[in-house]
Amino acid sequence: MQEVMTAIKVTKAAHSTVEEVDLNNIVMGFKFTDHMFVCDYQNGEWKNPRIEPLQLIPTHPAAMALHYGQAIFEGMKATLGKEGTPLLFRPCENAKRLNFSANRMGMPSFPEELFVEALKQFTNLEKQWIPTKEGSALYLRPFMYADEPFIGMRAATSFKFMVIASPAGPFFSRKIKLYAEKKYVRAVNGGTGEAKAAGNYAAAIRPTEYAKAKSYDQVLWLDAHDFEYIQEVGTMNIFFKIEGKFITPDLSGSILSGITRMSVIDLLRSKGFEVIERPIKISEIIEASKNGTLEEAFGTGTAVGIAMIEEIGNNDFTIKFPENNPVSIMVNDTLNAIKLQKEEDSFGWIVEA
Ligand code: COI
Repeated sequence: MQEVMTAIKVTKAAHSTVEEVDLNNIVMGFKFTDHMFVCDYQNGEWKNPRIEPLQLIPTHPAAMALHYGQAIFEGMKATLGKEGTPLLFRPCENAKRLNFSANRMGMPSFPEELFVEALKQFTNLEKQWIPTKEGSALYLRPFMYADEPFIGMRAATSFKFMVIASPAGPFFSRKIKLYAEKKYVRAVNGGTGEAKAAGNYAAAIRPTEYAKAKSYDQVLWLDAHDFEYIQEVGTMNIFFKIEGKFITPDLSGSILSGITRMSVIDLLRSKGFEVIERPIKISEIIEASKNGTLEEAFGTGTAVGIAMIEEIGNNDFTIKFPENNPVSIMVNDTLNAIKLQKEEDSFGWIVEA
């Protein structure tokens, strides 16, 4: 570990722009912190890990990520703990998932130990950017892309791994309405839906715009074969509570293995709830709504946290969820409290930066 720590070269920004920002009243994604982490992959190895002032990155117009989409990313959040210590949430899981995505997309693995160390050092340096309001955090965006200039179809041989960060307020402050998509799909078995690949998000943009034009907030993605099995919602995993039990789609090969998803499963089980991971048909949710057994539903994701759902529909049906969401609120509040060290982390999820 010592070797990795000393290997990261740090060049500090001359000035910080943090004073220009109201950290506890900010929308994620517009304002970026003062630094970035960069590491280069050339000749089969990762080299020159460094933290530098945030700046534009010179990119050749033939950089392969721009043409063939070898680009993946992660999402993480840093919070401030009791003693003002910057905290990360399950960073090893992000390191593993980045490498899962890298493997699927024909990209090199990034050393997991260096990933975690880079995130720790970067977060410490940007500590003053971490908002303190509950539900707010510093959103960390690790990503990797092919920067080799080449026209032709093969894996690139040079890549960059980088981390940038943006302060984030709570994402959805109200419940969301989902459009059950019948034409477009997010992922197919054997495709790239399990990877956090940039292209998956690009393909979701137009259908999401169409859903918004119909007064929904997000798309409910169904399976590509029958448009029957529920996969994800927007950029989140999904949970339903029916007759006291939770169900969530199993990781069938086309669903992203969300770190919030896995944490919510463990949290609910620790509170005595049964959680079943299995294929879920939309017809089953319609039926549960009709017979009064549908109790709650929410989406889970790093950026969003817990997004409570009020309605799912399309031209064929409308499902309205009950107004009260006591368990969804408990899950949201408990995760936030653990992240701020207001509640004991009996799971060992929190890592000091
Ligand atoms: C995340 O939840 O971290 C995501 O990747 C969603 C992103 C599109 C904001």
